[in-house]
Amino acid sequence: MRPDPVDAVSRLPAGQQPGSALTALAPMQDVTDLAFMSVITHYGAPDYFFTEFFRVHAQSHLEKHILRSIDENATGRPVFAQLIGEDITHLTRTATELLRHNVAGIDLNLGCPAPKVYKKNVGGGLLREPAKIDEILGALRAAVPGRFTVKMRIGFDDTVNFERILDLVNEHRVDLLTIHGRTVKEMYRSEVHYDAIARAVARVRCPVLANGNVTSAARAAAVLGETRAAGVMIGRHAIRNPWIFRQCREQFARQPVTRVTLADVRDYIGRLYRATMVDGLPERMHVNKMKKYLNFVGQSVDPAGAFLHDMRRAETEAALFAICDRHLLAEPAREFSPEPYPGVIARPNCETPSLLADGCSLETITA
Ligand SMILES: Cc1cc2nc3c(=O)[nH]c(=O)nc-3n(C[C@H](O)[C@H](O)[C@H](O)COP(=O)(O)O)c2cc1C
Repeated sequence: MRPDPVDAVSRLPAGQQPGSALTALAPMQDVTDLAFMSVITHYGAPDYFFTEFFRVHAQSHLEKHILRSIDENATGRPVFAQLIGEDITHLTRTATELLRHNVAGIDLNLGCPAPKVYKKNVGGGLLREPAKIDEILGALRAAVPGRFTVKMRIGFDDTVNFERILDLVNEHRVDLLTIHGRTVKEMYRSEVHYDAIARAVARVRCPVLANGNVTSAARAAAVLGETRAAGVMIGRHAIRNPWIFRQCREQFARQPVTRVTLADVRDYIGRLYRATMVDGLPERMHVNKMKKYLNFVGQSVDPAGAFLHDMRRAETEAALFAICDRHLLAEPAREFSPEPYPGVIARPNCETPSLLADGCSLETITA
């Protein structure tokens, strides 16, 4: 059996063995479900998956579609169940319920920046209240005999509480910490503060995953060098490029990195379409759902954004795939750019999530 990567890395001085660096797919609402996990695995699975967050409150129950990504996980890789909430009784109840399923561990969300979420003092909102975080970490640590992990941003609108929260991570013996190197107020498109991630790596005793704008295997190696983190967590750029985990592994082992062609990308889009097909989902809605993934994919197809422009106008499956064939199979051997083309953005004019959004969603988040 493959040695457990977190255990293997946690025994090493941080940053000592880049060849063994960890990779994880970031939890993403509406994205990291069973279908997407299976597609990612086809192109090269990360070491770990994380579910979309389970909302926790007095009336909450385990959402069935998220539970499927645990119960029917056929990727061969462990999946952590992520919780978002602030009520201690119900957080521990939910963690206990989830531990009856095949989870790698329980992860607490301390980062979601959607106003509807942070205003309820959950997700990123909790970063304003270290005393509350202390209570929650203590209760969850006591309720979770196995692996208990945290995914956090570096602060709410500044980093005054950052060191204090990192000390709580140590005090409560958190097993793995992911840091998205932005504050809540910085949302998704500012620069990422890798220096803050480096400070966390130096301060906490558990392995740290660096997260935020890890766009390629080369960037992953640079971020590991800069932060000395034990690994990287990748979100939007894995939607754009599902080969990224395989490429990271090759890069870390100093092997040649897989070159992806436009024909490979056409294969990915077909596979994603089939995997996300749901009984009863009208064709138009399925096409619209595909456009949300393709918003990211299009950033690496052509520097002028012509694929993005055309694909956004498709209304039927036939039209969508005709556009894909035109843009991807005319020069099938041309390279799919490992980095997004500069200036080709996933959704223009969409930096601030809608106040109506009650979480992080593909409707509102760009790259
Ligand atoms: C569509 C979408 C949904 C997200 N949902 C979650 C979530 O459920 N839980 C969470 O901790 N972070 C969520 N995030 C944040 C990502 O996990 C990640 O921290 C962020 O996108 C930065 O990483 P990236 O630059 O690799 O995308 C979401 C991000 C996106 C784009």
